[in-house]
Amino acid sequence: MNNNAKVSKAIIQEHFAGFKLQYQEEIMKALIIMGSRNPDGQTARAADGMIQGMNISEIEQFFLPRMKIDRCRQCDNAGWGICRTKGECVIKDDFASLVDKIKGADVVAFVTPVYFGDLSESLKTFLDRLRRTCMHESGKENIAGKKCIGICVAGGGGGGAPSCTVSMEKVLRTCGFDIVDLVPVRRQNLEMKVEVLKITGKWLIED
Ligand SMILES: Cc1cc2nc3c(=O)[nH]c(=O)nc-3n(C[C@H](O)[C@H](O)[C@H](O)COP(=O)(O)O)c2cc1C
Repeated sequence: MNNNAKVSKAIIQEHFAGFKLQYQEEIMKALIIMGSRNPDGQTARAADGMIQGMNISEIEQFFLPRMKIDRCRQCDNAGWGICRTKGECVIKDDFASLVDKIKGADVVAFVTPVYFGDLSESLKTFLDRLRRTCMHESGKENIAGKKCIGICVAGGGGGGAPSCTVSMEKVLRTCGFDIVDLVPVRRQNLEMKVEVLKITGKWLIED
């Protein structure tokens, strides 16, 4: 097995003229969801370390503040909506397409700048809605048990990364992810953590 692809199945198909051996390649797909809007910032630097370590071709990265993802409307008076009954959200924005990306990925990384010792607003808003849809069987299909990692980058004074990872763990666990690691990063140790994240990215893909 190499880093780039896993040949997982050999399908033998019978044709009129004989047998044809067809290999179906399964490429590892990684999805990186950024709670920052800055592709050149410290949060992106941490994500880039992990991406470098992953060394695969199928990586998609989304910057949530650039997408249209509204806050939950708490649709009915009890606070629920079709998230509970259908595993979907009533709001027509970029939420559903990003959820589909998660469902289609082998591994997902959530990377956020630390704001007030917590997740950024854009990531919080997305995960607030995701955990609701994951309460329903169809909503959590292809999400429950999926490998994910969280990275929290405190780029100001440097405090609050550990508490941010605690917030992240709580919401990702509610969604049903298999959280394989949570990495707190602070401005003062960013370059050291980038090296750790390169190894982490490699491990995520090969494990
Ligand atoms: C509203 C707000 C709150 C912040 N709170 C913290 C904090 O609790 N701890 C910290 O070290 N940095 C804090 N920062 C600084 C950010 O973590 C820092 O700007 C971020 O890592 C850089 O973002 P970028 O990598 O997306 O450019 C805060 C920044 C903002 C805008």
